Amino acid sequence: MKLADRIKNLGTETAFAVGAEAAVFAAEGNKVYPFHLGDLNLPTPENIVTAAEKAIKDGKTGYCPNAGVPALREVLAEDINQARGTDYTMENVVIQPGGKPVIGKFILSLMNPGDEVLYPNPGYPIYESQIQFNGGVAVPYSYKEGSDGFLLDLDSLEKLITEKTKLLIFNDFQNPMAAEASEDELKKIAELAIKHNLYVLCDEAYFDMRYSGKSKSLASLPGMKERCVILYTFSKKFAMTGWRLGAAVAPKDLAAIIGKLNTNDESCSNHFVQYGALAGLTDSQEPVMAIVDELRKRRDKGYEILSSIKGVKCFKPETTFYLFPNVTEAMDNLGFKTYDEFRLAALKETGVSFCTRLHFGSELPDEKNKYVRFAYSGINIPEMEEGLTKLKAFIEK
Ligand SMILES: Cc1ncc(COP(=O)(O)O)c(C=O)c1O
Repeated sequence: MKLADRIKNLGTETAFAVGAEAAVFAAEGNKVYPFHLGDLNLPTPENIVTAAEKAIKDGKTGYCPNAGVPALREVLAEDINQARGTDYTMENVVIQPGGKPVIGKFILSLMNPGDEVLYPNPGYPIYESQIQFNGGVAVPYSYKEGSDGFLLDLDSLEKLITEKTKLLIFNDFQNPMAAEASEDELKKIAELAIKHNLYVLCDEAYFDMRYSGKSKSLASLPGMKERCVILYTFSKKFAMTGWRLGAAVAPKDLAAIIGKLNTNDESCSNHFVQYGALAGLTDSQEPVMAIVDELRKRRDKGYEILSSIKGVKCFKPETTFYLFPNVTEAMDNLGFKTYDEFRLAALKETGVSFCTRLHFGSELPDEKNKYVRFAYSGINIPEMEEGLTKLKAFIEK
């Protein structure tokens, strides 16, 4: 078969391949401790399930408007305004089948072939895939290890901006590093975007997954609403990854274009699911708080054990459900030269399955340290404790 040329530029999310490897290992009768995928093993709150069931019974099973059910768009705009201090209306909100489609639709709407797009590396791998698939030039920017977390390397970021740079992809509450920009850094990013006339994708998939403090959105800074598209998702906050529901929150003209892309791609997002999401936003937020409380306990447990391992350096982030320890010394001590040697040996010897930095983009030329990612959203505390204790023994042997 002679495929289209663009197919060679299509990337993927290799974390799913790590999951498949772990599944094979488990099928061979081995115990697996799953830290590889950012999925939740917590159920979707009951009120959301009930509302979606009722919507099915009420016949919300046909097509709905391309941009989503109006009541949901309205309530989501209000919710976003309350959390972010913005002034969006329903015309800014275009419902999507998940947060992920916002990435491709943002790029398709604003990027011409040959335009340069800045994106985080390590970062969510779909950015690079969608930029390259659509004929853009993917320009990675990086983060530095600070004293209590990862920091944006803003000087390097600015140096990467050229006349061809059109878009900036910014994932605050970052996957995989759990990095979060300070108010000062947000201001500097906004200044850069305005100065160089960049449109910004604010991937805020983890905006509400936080254990202390308050999230702030780049889109709320003066002059930014006009140039930002927020990626919003119901996946993480409401434990709804498999329901597939999210939204693009964009300037009105752009929102209309994204709605037109919806009509071309999927007609509309799943109709009755939107009524479940509406209940999630309007009912009591106790179920959401319970999800965050459970994740906080897992974060504490994961941090406690990982940071006690000789040769492993780990930060304790206030957001996301990821830990991204520096394992350079541990790998050196064990004599592992490559990430895959380390990852596969750890799986074989301990059953602990995790992704490495390479699942979040290629290593950058000046990168010396080694990092791996532990997602604690899909594993309960007793299993975390058992698995990570085995990993500690393996690394310290
Ligand atoms: C940074 C980031 N953005 C977007 C997404 C997409 O999430 P979804 O499509 O499930 O809403 C994810 C999922 O893991 C993510 O980590």
